[in-house]
Amino acid sequence: MNKVAILDFGSQYTQLIARKIRELGVFSEIFPVGLSISRIKKEKPDALILSGGPQSVYQKDAHLPSKEIFMMGVPVLGICYGSQLMAHLLGGKVIPSKKREYGFAYLEVLDRRGLLSGIKDKGQVWMSHGDRTEEVPSGFIISGETANCRAAVIEWRERKLFGVQFHPEVVHTRQGKKYLSNFLFSLSGLKAEWSMGSFIERKVEEIRRLVGERKVICGLSGGVDSLVTSLIIQRAIKDNLFCIFVDNGLLRKGQYQGLMKRFKDRFGLNVIGLDASRVFLERLKKISSPERKRKIIGEVFIRIFEREAAKIGDVSFLAQGTIYPDVIESNPVKGPSSRIKSHHNVGGLPPRLKFKLIEPLKELFKDEVRALAEELGIDREFIVQHPFPGPGLAVRIVGEVTQERIKVIRDADEIIIEEVKRARLYQKLWQAFAVLLPVKSVGVMGDQRTYHGVVVVRLVQSVDGMTANWFHADHKLLSRISSRIVNEVDGINRVAYDITTKPPGTIEWE
Ligand code: XMP
Repeated sequence: MNKVAILDFGSQYTQLIARKIRELGVFSEIFPVGLSISRIKKEKPDALILSGGPQSVYQKDAHLPSKEIFMMGVPVLGICYGSQLMAHLLGGKVIPSKKREYGFAYLEVLDRRGLLSGIKDKGQVWMSHGDRTEEVPSGFIISGETANCRAAVIEWRERKLFGVQFHPEVVHTRQGKKYLSNFLFSLSGLKAEWSMGSFIERKVEEIRRLVGERKVICGLSGGVDSLVTSLIIQRAIKDNLFCIFVDNGLLRKGQYQGLMKRFKDRFGLNVIGLDASRVFLERLKKISSPERKRKIIGEVFIRIFEREAAKIGDVSFLAQGTIYPDVIESNPVKGPSSRIKSHHNVGGLPPRLKFKLIEPLKELFKDEVRALAEELGIDREFIVQHPFPGPGLAVRIVGEVTQERIKVIRDADEIIIEEVKRARLYQKLWQAFAVLLPVKSVGVMGDQRTYHGVVVVRLVQSVDGMTANWFHADHKLLSRISSRIVNEVDGINRVAYDITTKPPGTIEWE
């Protein structure tokens, strides 16, 4: 099977490059900058992609690989900084620019015999760069230009070296995949042989080798990510996987009992079920800060896992269903982006963890995990269920989490889901849920003054959870949800609808 190595120069889009390559049916692996030429050669890649990055080739500490990278006989595609690197290292001229070009540009095709085969003229591309290539090294031609960038596409076809100043991996670049498929297939001669099935096989093999005869525990959250993680590990190590499903008191109505049965009967998982709702509630008492809540919940989970692991004995690994958006937004170590919120399976981990982590889905996006779930035979109803955050309803209760407030949010949540399903919208939405605010408002009911709580309804559409749009819901649906919540949920006399996109908002309120 062919393999593409992506050298990551720190672009926020590197994972997107990997994802697009997977979509094209080719296996890819991301490597950090600073990888030596001998290491790269050892990986035996069939093609190399140099990602973008925030640096300038002229910066003192710029990441400049050896130019041997272009002489290994392996086809190379440089994207943005990667393209400038190629030009700079091979004798071209990159000029610094104080003004960043950020946004859309339109690509004029000058030569269609290589990377731009089948690319429409004046198609939209997405630019995000400061420096630009002014002169190409000898051997190269310029095959595409934009108004502000003369060398938008450069190529030396005989040597199979290509560079694009824009980002073909982002959706804003029309025909983005076409540039990548030209590079992979017609120019580099790779074959599309990778699939989700082969991803599973590779992970199973990796985990088997890593774990050996040791034991692994895996926390099940009730969502598809942790279930897929468990099923992959189960394939690898059978009964040496111990799943733990904790009722933290922050799950949806009826979720714990229903799922416990399903994990055992339907998937044959080795599951330990624990009711720890009192502990969670106790530790969350009087806590209103979103990050504190997330940290506390993460910590309590870990303590429970540690206790259970001690009972099982000889547990060396903790498996988690972390997916890529969790990693990027929690930014646990240091990365290109800032911390948005500590997703409980990433940022909520205490610094001194007794286990090594296994996170087989760490590079994947949600829809890819769903495709894996299908491959693993998980039923459709489970796969299409909306994502549910690890810290559960706690991050939908703004302010203090109490038993009474959990009841309110559960009842409101149930109504919203029922109505969304009745309107046949469930699968069109990324998520639909209720948020409870820490304010009261005055109302009137049956001639009596009321002074009760406020619920916010959040319906969003998204492809991967990284960005989202609020759903332009039909007024009849909103009206049904509103009147049912006010009538059926004790303690609520007002319902509001959230019309915030992500960014600038996030999907969850905390
Ligand atoms: P935000 O609120 O950051 O959420 O826009 C993006 C997506 O991630 C889900 N989410 C979480 N998932 N653990 C998870 O497993 C978490 O701590 C967590 N926080 C948010 C959220 O529901 C949305 O789908």
